[in-house]
Order: sequence, then structure tokens, then C-alpha cells
Amino acid sequence: MNHSEIRGKAIPEGFEPAIWCAKLGTPLYVYDADEMAKQVAAFKAAFSVEDLHIHYACKALTNINVLRLMKKWGTGLDTVSIEEIKIGLLAGFKPNDIMFTPNMVGFEEIAEAVEMGVRINIDNLPFLLRFGQVFPETQVCVRLNPHILAGGNINISVGHTHSKFGISFEQIGDIKSILSKTGLKVEGLHIHIGSDVKDAESFVKVADMLFDIAVQFPDLAFLDLGGGFKINYKPEDKKADINELGRLLSASFNQFCQKYGRTISLIFEPGKYLVSEAGYFFTQVNVVKQTPYVLFAGVDSGFNHLIRPMFYDAYHHITNCSNPDGALLAYDIVGNICETDTFAKQRELPEIKEGDILCFHNAGAYGYTMASNYNSRPRPAEALFMDGGLHLIRRKETLEDILQTQVELEFLK
Ligand SMILES: Cc1ncc(COP(=O)(O)O)c(C=O)c1O
Repeated sequence: MNHSEIRGKAIPEGFEPAIWCAKLGTPLYVYDADEMAKQVAAFKAAFSVEDLHIHYACKALTNINVLRLMKKWGTGLDTVSIEEIKIGLLAGFKPNDIMFTPNMVGFEEIAEAVEMGVRINIDNLPFLLRFGQVFPETQVCVRLNPHILAGGNINISVGHTHSKFGISFEQIGDIKSILSKTGLKVEGLHIHIGSDVKDAESFVKVADMLFDIAVQFPDLAFLDLGGGFKINYKPEDKKADINELGRLLSASFNQFCQKYGRTISLIFEPGKYLVSEAGYFFTQVNVVKQTPYVLFAGVDSGFNHLIRPMFYDAYHHITNCSNPDGALLAYDIVGNICETDTFAKQRELPEIKEGDILCFHNAGAYGYTMASNYNSRPRPAEALFMDGGLHLIRRKETLEDILQTQVELEFLK
């Protein structure tokens, strides 16, 4: 890797990390609205089908302001909890534009979602039967598991034989017998094989498998091919070629519609593709510590705020905003919580000093939404960079926020 690749992605024009961090404090998540808008537009432009819907997978980043932007840009929502549905409704989405794809939730939660009028996607046979018995008039979507191993690593690969998600492709007969027993109608079929899928072939293969099965379901209004489109983490990474994917999938989907005898909708649920690259996580260096073996830079955050490197072994590009042109040294970038929370090992970065601002790139997806209060640390603030200005969209938590839900027992005082 050459020098400029190591220095890597620059901070976008107009970003002023030093000023922002001084004003709002660190750590701080910042999201670039233009970048998100660009990704939504690129996704839409890649497909040529009559009725395309993007359901933004809001688990990636659920700030209500981001949801309002997505709505403005014409997306629907993919949700996985009753809480995500409620935030989506608050953000102004119509129930019909929200898909609820839960996994292993209680039936009451599904019943509550039916009351709210959102689309329901069921991923197990017992609940499909129950749904048919309780709500025979409500059309349903069925999540299938195609038994394909795809995705960045096993933890984010969810379409394989041993995954807890979806109804097995081998159980189509069981689905059909539930439908005939209950009179339930299937309005959609859904597959999501995992995250960080970069090769178009995996999507095309899955789509072809789905088209073969879909002809057996006469009442379809849509097919949903999920999300999981890879973006660049490392400077030399290859992201999913969305134009190539759009070209291949549009052709095979249009062919399917002909075979099916009518045009139905095609839905995708990208999360990471729409918001990951728009996100920047700024931290401040507390300590630079040289041991006989390792040069550490310890920042004022940890896996309580950005867990992907420790949870998924994910690579996040890091830049030193305070000294971008300094001499390169190899650092272990670590957090300040009492765990081995290593963000990066032996990463070459321009010389780091105490007080420097480090930026973790690609922090828009599964960053804040996976944050916790571990070590009783408050979660950071979030801000939106839009029209040349920075807007606070979530204040930093306080100790009072953390204590708020604790119930102090009088007799222990
Ligand atoms: C059902 C479903 N759809 C869409 C997504 C979005 O995946 P990604 O953010 O990789 O696009 C996920 C992610 O977990 C998911 O579970």
C-alpha cells in the first residue's frame, strides 16, 4: 500500500473536525446527508424495472432525522422490531411502506404490527400457521432461506443451512399446506442472505432460485431480495458493483414478470450501502503509550461506541485529522474501556499526539445503533452535516440518562 492509500479517504470538503469536536465534544458521530442522498440515487438509477422500491434497513442507523431524509428521498423502511416500526411511523412513513421482518420475536409483537397496518414478513412455520389462523384475511410475506453461504463472514451470513433466519427452501411444501389449510394469501417472498456481499453472482443465483419458487405462489404483489451490498472499508477494497447488479437483476426480474404473467414490485433493503460511507466517528486521543513491544494510541471511546472491529473483526479506515501529513508510525489503536477493545492493530498512521482527533471512516452503519453503556459510559452525540452546516441530531448522554431507568430500593439506601 502506498503512502496516499494509507492516508486514505479524506474528510469531505466543509468538514471541520477540530471545531466540531471542540463544540460538541468527543466522541462524536457525524453523518453527511449529501453522501446518503448520492447512494440512494445511485441505487435507484442502477435498476430498470417498472416498480422498484427501496426499503432502507433502518437497523443500520435509526436516528429519526435520517429516517425523515430517507422518506424525503422516496424510500420505504425495513424494520425488525416494534420500536423501529414506531420510530418509522413517527418519522412519517406510511404503514404500507414499512416492512416488518422480525426473527424469534413473540407473536404479540407481530399482532401489534398487524394492528399498525405495516407489512408482515414471517420467517418460521409455526408462526405462519398461527398467523393464518388469527389473521386469515391479512396478506403476508414469507422470508425464505435459500441455503447459500454469502457475506463478509459467518456472523453476517444469514442464508446458509444452519442460520436461524428464514424458512428453508426445502420446506416450500409445508408453506403451501399452511396456506391451503388457513386460506392465507402470500403477497410477497423475501430473501436476505447476509451483509458485505460483493459478488453480483450470489445475488443473481439467489434471485434465480427465488423466481423458480415464486411461480408457485399466484397472489404475489412483490419479491424482496433483501440488502447486504458491500461497501469499501479498506482503501483497496472492492464494493458491490451496483450498476452491474442492477443490469443483471433487472433483466432476470423483468423476464420473471413475463413468465409470471403480470408485473409485480421488486424490493431491496439496503442498510449499509445507503449510510455507511456517510458516517464519520471522531474520537480524541487520550494517551500515546510506548511499551517495549507496542506503540498504543488510546482514544476516548471503545467497543461501547463502535463495536464492529471487535465483534466482526471489521476493518475501519482511520485518519489522523490533527496531523494528516505527519511521519507514518505503526500503532495499535485501542479504546478506554476495561476490555481488549482494539480498533486496529499495527495500523500505519501519521504521528499521533495526545489530544489529536482520529476519524474512523465508514461509521454510518451499525455504529451508533450498536452502541451500549458498557462501563457506565454515556453514548456519544450524533450530528448531521447538511447544506454546509452541522446540526446536532442527538445529544450526548449523561450519567442521569443512564441512571434514569434504575430503581433504587429504599431498604438498601
Ligand atoms: C432482513 C434484513 N434486510 C436488510 C438488512 C441490511 O443489510 P445491509 O446493511 O448489509 O445492507 C439486514 C441486515 O442485517 C437484514 O437482516
